Amino acid sequence: MDKEEKTRGADLTRVNELVTEYSQQKWALIPLLQKIQDEFGYIPPQSIPIIARNLRLFPSQVQGVISFYSQLYTQPRGRKVVRVCRGTACHVRGGKTILKLVKRHLDIEEGETTPDMEYTLETVACIGVCALAPNIVVADRVYGHLNPKKVEQLFKNRESGE
Ligand code: FES
Repeated sequence: MDKEEKTRGADLTRVNELVTEYSQQKWALIPLLQKIQDEFGYIPPQSIPIIARNLRLFPSQVQGVISFYSQLYTQPRGRKVVRVCRGTACHVRGGKTILKLVKRHLDIEEGETTPDMEYTLETVACIGVCALAPNIVVADRVYGHLNPKKVEQLFKNRESGE
């Protein structure tokens, strides 16, 4: 499924309702974007012209704000976000290999989502638990002292096609 197909099914009726509700407010753009993302899991790109029109902004201004905030997304994300640490402590303890293995198990690159929408893969500068390096986070749970065997255990259901 390509990126456009993933976003095509978004129900813009709800976007219109939210935009109307928030357009009465001053400084409404960021809360509105957050609200849309809370409801859809991302900000459907087709909603950007609607938001811009109602808040009397240019679509490029709305897009600029979305691009500025790394917590705002214009593509659907997987049910579980996998964050591999690329910080120094993790790097010197094999973080690069861990990232390579996670990519192989999920069969996606950084920033991508598996076709079944189960996993999105990201890297982060530091998870904040350097003493456990190398680390990854899967669906908000930290897994430390990783090695190839542990990575295999974490994603073993991917191998059997479950
Ligand atoms: S460098 Fe990986 S958790 Fe800090």
